Amino acid sequence: MDYKKQFDNTLSVFENSLLSLSGSWNFISPLDESIRYSLFSGGKRIRPVMLLETYKLFHPLDASALRFAAATEALHTYSLVHDDLPCMDNDDYRRGKPSSHKKFGENIAVLTGDALLNLAYELVFDAVELSPYREGAIKAGRTFAALTGAKGLIAGQIADLSFTREKRDFNDLEYVFRHKTCDLIVAAVKCGALAAGADEKSAAALEDYAYNFGFAFQLADDLLDGAEDEGCSSLKLYDENRVRKMLADYTSRAVSALDKIDCDTGFLRYLAQISEKRLK
Ligand code: IPE
Ligand code: MG
Repeated sequence: MDYKKQFDNTLSVFENSLLSLSGSWNFISPLDESIRYSLFSGGKRIRPVMLLETYKLFHPLDASALRFAAATEALHTYSLVHDDLPCMDNDDYRRGKPSSHKKFGENIAVLTGDALLNLAYELVFDAVELSPYREGAIKAGRTFAALTGAKGLIAGQIADLSFTREKRDFNDLEYVFRHKTCDLIVAAVKCGALAAGADEKSAAALEDYAYNFGFAFQLADDLLDGAEDEGCSSLKLYDENRVRKMLADYTSRAVSALDKIDCDTGFLRYLAQISEKRLK
């Protein structure tokens, strides 16, 4: 199986779906432009592809899964728009283009993030309504909300703000990575599994996969960014070689987690290599 091709196929199904969903949006100016600017600016779409490929392990792809996938990308995009703000990481560029507040101003960027967050939940409600398996879809929506909320992604962002080099250890780093990065990736994979009615054993193994994948993903991001950035970085605790070794370890833990699942997880195994590939 050509997994790269499989990624591209799922990605193009997702992009077409997101484009057609967005065709009906008529947000007021300048929100319409700012939302589109951030949502269609060359993101890798890893989370929606993971969600859809997980869903496909247990159920054929459908309109409900595509709405869930769009919700993860809308939420991810809101988190990046807010993360780039001067009061947060203060980044002028995102994906090689001016960040939202640089292009539209800080006030519009805040509201763009707010609007994308609400949009994510409109999409989740649509996903539940369209679901062939409503009980699972409601569980998926609930999980999505919890993992991206005050005890999830936002808790990670809070911890990231106060992370310094001094008196920090692996547990502090783990807390930030788990919440800031892994929780949304776990949410995507768990949503896919729960909404498709996966058995508990598979759902637990997929969660383990997603956590280790997310950790590796963030380590790769640190290596790409270097240690100069504000906030938390593994490079503030360890040297580059050690971080590379950790990246390899988390990647292999992600792959091993899949051994507990009976269906064909070849694609997810392939995807686990993406973090190491980003560095080449
Ligand atoms: C960036 O995520 C933020 C992190 C959690 C490291 P991505 O690297 O998935 O961002 P895009 O969407 O592809 O730009
Ligand atoms: Mg940050």
